Amino acid sequence: MKGKKICIMAISLCMVLPYLCGCQSGQDKKTTRMHIGVACYNQSDTFISEMVGCFKEELYAGSGDETEVTVTCMDAAGSQRTQNDQVKELISAGCSVLCVNLVDRTDPSEIIDLARDNDVPLIFFNREPVAEDMKQWDKIYYIGADAKQSGIMQGEVAAEAIKADKNLDRNKDGKIQYVVLEGEPGHQDAIIRTENAVNTLQKNGIELEKLGGGIANWNRAQSQNRMIQMIGQYQNQIELVLANNDDMALGAIDAYKKLNYTESAYPVFFGIDGTSVGLEAIKDGSLSGTVYNDKEGQALAMVKLAKALVMKTRLEGLTFEKENCIYLPYSEVTIENVDEYLP
Ligand code: GAL
Ligand code: CA
Repeated sequence: MKGKKICIMAISLCMVLPYLCGCQSGQDKKTTRMHIGVACYNQSDTFISEMVGCFKEELYAGSGDETEVTVTCMDAAGSQRTQNDQVKELISAGCSVLCVNLVDRTDPSEIIDLARDNDVPLIFFNREPVAEDMKQWDKIYYIGADAKQSGIMQGEVAAEAIKADKNLDRNKDGKIQYVVLEGEPGHQDAIIRTENAVNTLQKNGIELEKLGGGIANWNRAQSQNRMIQMIGQYQNQIELVLANNDDMALGAIDAYKKLNYTESAYPVFFGIDGTSVGLEAIKDGSLSGTVYNDKEGQALAMVKLAKALVMKTRLEGLTFEKENCIYLPYSEVTIENVDEYLP
């Protein structure tokens, strides 16, 4: 149990029509109780903590029906074994549906067995199990987004910026010297984003030269460290930084700040997610583009699906692909349209 970070958020929501005097009356109103268990791979991940925040907000906002909702959120802090134990606890605590953000997306079997043995529907989110695992049981679902689309969009946004500003090719050799900062190896969003961003730049007529790259596991501090090394290695040659998410793009900017580079000597940086810090960086011009990972859409889909599974109602207003997967579309964000995304 030691070291386990458990954040228990109990939300008791009595959603009744205003003229009925609340849930106290009890006898005349029948409330449906719903206990949702949420298991996160790592709550210090910026995008995940924002997405889970949206999920809780959506639950609060979902008034109109007589539902009493309790949410228990657990943080595996990067250990699959811890997460398996947490899922056991959530089931023992009486959860009627589980939302699981796997630590190791290739290792969901124990969780699937636990859910199936106890007949608790299972919604995976953000870290997509492989197709075979998604077929292990008929009460398994996935909610996320299409990695390829985010890579293509990052490439499009970057290509446009490069075409619009000839000075981004600092050494005027007709090529853009770039480095990449990648998410966790094995994550569905890491390699696919990089490959598609690079291909899209090339398809748009941008000649590229890769100088180097590094894995920074979605993490801002790790990205800063890796970037400091690459700046040491390639000096002023880096013209473009493609990061698999905003936190790593911001970590790369931190590296230039830490080394006291003047802003006019910075390369251009592109991220993915549109987290609040990412959007602020678009607004202040330090980040040239990002791709919005629709956390509100994903959260809303997860609320709708969780409720429908508990209440055994029809899955209305949800579009499934591959039978049990929901993918929310990404969208491009630059200084031109960032205000539409800022709160
Ligand atoms: C990605 C997101 C990253 C990170 C990762 C965690 O979709 O872009 O920032 O949150 O999921 O699985
Ligand atoms: Ca160049």
